[in-house]
Amino acid sequence: MPTWVQVVYLLCAVGFILALKGLSGPRTARSGNLIGAAAAVVACVLPFVYVDRLEHVPLMLGAVAVGTVGGVLGARRVQMTQMPQMVALFNGVGGGAAALVALLELRHMTDAVGGGELPGFDLAATAFTIFVGSVSFAGSLVTFAKLQELMTSRPVTFPGLPALFALLLVGAIALSVVTVTDAALAWAVVLCVVGLVFGVLLVLPVGGADVPIVISLLNAFTGLTVAAGGYVLGNTVLLVGGTLVGSAGTFLTLLMARAMGRSVANIMFGALKGGSTLGGGVASDRPVRSAGPDDVGIVLAYASRVIIVPGYGLAVAQAQHTLRELVDLLLKRGIKVDYAIHPVAGRMPGHMNVLLAEAQVPYEQLIEMDDINGEFKHTDVVLVVGANDVVNPAAKTTPGAPIYGMPILNADEAHQIVFMKRSMRPGFAGIENELLFDPKTTLLFGDAKDSLAKLLKAVESL
Ligand code: TAP
Repeated sequence: MPTWVQVVYLLCAVGFILALKGLSGPRTARSGNLIGAAAAVVACVLPFVYVDRLEHVPLMLGAVAVGTVGGVLGARRVQMTQMPQMVALFNGVGGGAAALVALLELRHMTDAVGGGELPGFDLAATAFTIFVGSVSFAGSLVTFAKLQELMTSRPVTFPGLPALFALLLVGAIALSVVTVTDAALAWAVVLCVVGLVFGVLLVLPVGGADVPIVISLLNAFTGLTVAAGGYVLGNTVLLVGGTLVGSAGTFLTLLMARAMGRSVANIMFGALKGGSTLGGGVASDRPVRSAGPDDVGIVLAYASRVIIVPGYGLAVAQAQHTLRELVDLLLKRGIKVDYAIHPVAGRMPGHMNVLLAEAQVPYEQLIEMDDINGEFKHTDVVLVVGANDVVNPAAKTTPGAPIYGMPILNADEAHQIVFMKRSMRPGFAGIENELLFDPKTTLLFGDAKDSLAKLLKAVESL
């Protein structure tokens, strides 16, 4: 590989690092994304430029065309609420591609040396890529099926599942050892099949709403496989890019698990120990205080400090634009209004940030949980729009509750709380929220978009 190509690959790797840096803040995310995409395009085009007598060019261009059309159409059509399954699919094909490349590379390596010795470390990296890439591919397809409701989103377990897991793991280790010692393609293919089965079984016991965390974990797996593939192929950009994805995915998984007050092991294997990872839950029939939009409009219009707590229901109702209009109106009346952003509100990392950015809400109005939690006690009204678990005091008061230990927004400390939701059904954790029955709390029942439109009219008329 000529030196100039290596330098360009290095620049692409730097581009990936800059992209990650950019993606870590809402202001710079768009440019970060563009830098990353540009680096990926350059890295893909490079072999067409520098490799002499490149083989199968029409096939490769055909594959690039299929990938480009699929990616562009998919990204344009996907709804914001379907983003996690889109990421799962992209991630899965990445892992699958890495496994296939490793299988082909094993054949090339053995053909190249004839009957000679192959470096053990290269073979170990190849076996790792084949197994973990297959796990990531199959696991990602199951996460896609769960989120797209092509199959049940409840945890699926059966007697003997832990034993089967252990058996497959031992089998994978044995097959990896054989791949390293014999460099035999047939055993590597069996290793790939074991990886596929393992991937399916790994994700089946995870409840639907925990799936975004598993996607992040599988994303980390794919990153590691790509990095190992980069080592085998001697390609710097794959090595650096894969390592970045692997470490970013690992951190994201740990941060999300911590924000939910759960361990990764509990999320992955909780259902095997009998504790479901998906709440379900039934609607409470205890009496609550409810009010209509006109009454809530008066409460809001005459407050001096209001905090909005957005949650999953805001995304379901697609009410972000109407919410922004209401907040703009309150700001015009001289009321101080902010949005309190819980790290796991919604169903995917940054869900609320993305949703509100779509409605052109200025970033400075979005305040992270740790920065706003001290403000609630000085707040006249907290308007909870389609959120539930992220303000549920059971996280502090009820040991044994599925969300116990999860940091929450201190909405309970405000002078008045208004919940906008459709029914008395619980949130994702499937448990009752005592705050709904608090004397300071009022419920405004209905779809969030509909209720916000009525609320907007009510405040306008005052
Ligand atoms: P949830 O606790 O799930 O509560 C959502 C609320 O929205 C429900 O009370 C629901 O009540 C209401 N709702 C649904 N559709 C609505 C609509 N069209 N109009 C009005 N209200 C509607 O949401 P949250 O407070 O955002 O908490 C997120 C939960 O998801 C946490 O437990 C978190 O751990 C979990 N989770 C998050 C992530 C990430 S990364 N964000 C990943 C996995 C799991 P009704 O049905 O009565 O309307």
